[in-house]
Amino acid sequence: MNKIIGKPLDRVDGRLKVTGEASYTADVPIENLTYGVIFQSAIASGKIIQIDTSAAAIAPGVLDVVTYQQTPSLVKIPFFGPPQPQSTEKDHNIYYDGQHLGVVIAQTLEQAETAASKIKIIYEEAPYTVTAAGAEIFEPESIFFGIMPGKITRGDVESGKAQADVLVEQVYTTPMEHHNPLEPSATIAVWEGDNLTLYETTQGISATQRAIASVLNIPQENVRVISKYLGGGFGCKALLRSHTILAAIASRHVKRPVKVVLTRSQMYTACGHRSQTEQHLTLGATKEGKLTVINHIGTSLTSLFDDFVEPVGAATTMMYACPNLEVKYRLARINTATPTFMRGPGEATGMFALESAMDELAHTLNIDPIELRLRNHADIDPHKELPWSSKSLKECYQKGAEIFGWSQRNPVLRSMQDGYFLIGWGMASATFPTNVGTASVKVEIFASGEVKVRSGTQDIGTGTYTVMTQIASEVLGLPVQFELGDSNLPKAPIAGNSITVASVSPAVHKAAIAARDRIIQMAIKDANSLLYESQAEDISVESGQIFLKQDPSKRDSYTDILRRHGLESLEVTEESSASPESKEYAKHSFGAIFVEVAVDELLGEVKVRRCVGVYGAGRILNFKTARSQVVGGITWGIGMALMEKTVMDINQGRIVGANLSDYLIPVHADIPNMEVQFVEEHDPFVNALGTKSLGELPIVGVAAAISNAVYHATGKRIRDLPITPDKLL
Ligand code: MOS
Repeated sequence: MNKIIGKPLDRVDGRLKVTGEASYTADVPIENLTYGVIFQSAIASGKIIQIDTSAAAIAPGVLDVVTYQQTPSLVKIPFFGPPQPQSTEKDHNIYYDGQHLGVVIAQTLEQAETAASKIKIIYEEAPYTVTAAGAEIFEPESIFFGIMPGKITRGDVESGKAQADVLVEQVYTTPMEHHNPLEPSATIAVWEGDNLTLYETTQGISATQRAIASVLNIPQENVRVISKYLGGGFGCKALLRSHTILAAIASRHVKRPVKVVLTRSQMYTACGHRSQTEQHLTLGATKEGKLTVINHIGTSLTSLFDDFVEPVGAATTMMYACPNLEVKYRLARINTATPTFMRGPGEATGMFALESAMDELAHTLNIDPIELRLRNHADIDPHKELPWSSKSLKECYQKGAEIFGWSQRNPVLRSMQDGYFLIGWGMASATFPTNVGTASVKVEIFASGEVKVRSGTQDIGTGTYTVMTQIASEVLGLPVQFELGDSNLPKAPIAGNSITVASVSPAVHKAAIAARDRIIQMAIKDANSLLYESQAEDISVESGQIFLKQDPSKRDSYTDILRRHGLESLEVTEESSASPESKEYAKHSFGAIFVEVAVDELLGEVKVRRCVGVYGAGRILNFKTARSQVVGGITWGIGMALMEKTVMDINQGRIVGANLSDYLIPVHADIPNMEVQFVEEHDPFVNALGTKSLGELPIVGVAAAISNAVYHATGKRIRDLPITPDKLL
């Protein structure tokens, strides 16, 4: 059989994307389209005394102005469950700067923009806070929409501290950050009678379908959500947002399709962000380097109306074998939009603290950082007390160290120099859970020879189209077309939490096998087939034909078999979800990241010169797309370490620099060549294909590795991200 799974194939949608043929949401051609422009609050706290839309309503081209008074809440959005009962009393309160207040709909975008600028709002301002100081702080009982407890303990922290020969007790902080996908969020809402179609920038077509149906109080089956291509999501397109609600309501008002595209500046308040964190972390260890205690307390900031925690302890609980542990969270309410999932929520921020502290401990104990990690390697999941379904972390350390040349590292601080520059080498571990959701896939084989494989999953830019095509093509032995991004297709999970490959690939595999086996059975039972009365296990497939392995001259084709049976097509739908046995295992991907930095001490500038990342992430379906994902993830990590930070103006209560030129992200010149390797893993427990999570894994650990390298180079430990020049001077 032709091996296609695993091959480093080009993206099947690559050509469409680079030639502009791929229709992203805002590009979908829709007849009779109108344009919506959203207007927002200009204060951080208070209430609306008066909203005057009269000048906007009579501006040229304007069809209507819809305000929050005519919509369900634009603030408290029911992301998952049924909505809070809507009060008929409209909420005139302003909770944060940039809060959506309504939409102007006009014949052209320019007319809508002009009209939106004519809306006059009179506010009564109230005191606000955008920092934790002075905010209400509380300990949430549960976090992440109730799926994780707000406090996790094992053993006894106080006795763990008492057993320690050395303690590292430090505070690590990470700033507010924004996702900034290249493609801003957009919606085109189209009503036909009672049915709503949304062309939507979303990581979750079915989740959006459920949420908008619940907000509008209409049956789910009346809503169709389409999202064929996505220019990045990173978490900010995971949940229903108010611009989508506004587009849907606006379209109902003007009885025409309405398109709303958020501006780059609106992207800073309309789709969530990563909260800043303050993490108090204590590690205690014996002088041999055995951890006796881990205590991780994370404070993050949320809005006045939702409880969203940045779960910094997500990896802390399972990363190292340590008998005494406490992880807990504190939340402060401030005048912002609600934070959300962003690129390894919890793992990226929390592992900055944990993997920095491990480095501090290694220096204190004078033990090599890799050796310290090996001495505390978790042979089973120390929290769930379950064996790992697979774990190659030791191989990742070893292979990474080898490629990087770690044995040449002089552990003495400031000892490695390259002329004018101080050189530092640092490393850190990476991990991310592998979650498997329920996914359905339909395979349709046509008598024409065409094959369509369909699932209501998403491709957020990572390569879903490509890897799913590879799986189905290999099993069926002929080229297939993979379709996704339409809520009318069989259901699949949201493309978040790095869940897609591990959830959808086994379903594609299962459905393709079922379809192939149906065809084989039809041939075996067909007296007109050369394969009549053959054994199914003796039959193989290639190029749209099935043949007897022992005697390849005995063959038949999908097309002929279907035609002889008078069938236009054959259709099979299969569903797959996590197996009961898989619940007996802890499922995580792991990795190790090594970096070399060069520091210009006079300017405080840090340049990442080299980077080696080695990952154990299950079966790799396509080395090329997988490598690209890792390169992207490490690039995020470099941005997180050295550049990214959203700045709040505390005097105005608003974000400053809400654009792509003031919010610093790495450009090509900031990124070194990266050596990316995967440790081959055969995980029989995660799913039938052995695929694990990869999406968010590679950002994890990078900021710590860089901070550790900066310390090695300079002797300065920076515990506050990003590591900007001022902190090194
Ligand atoms: Mo990811 S932050 O779950 O899109």
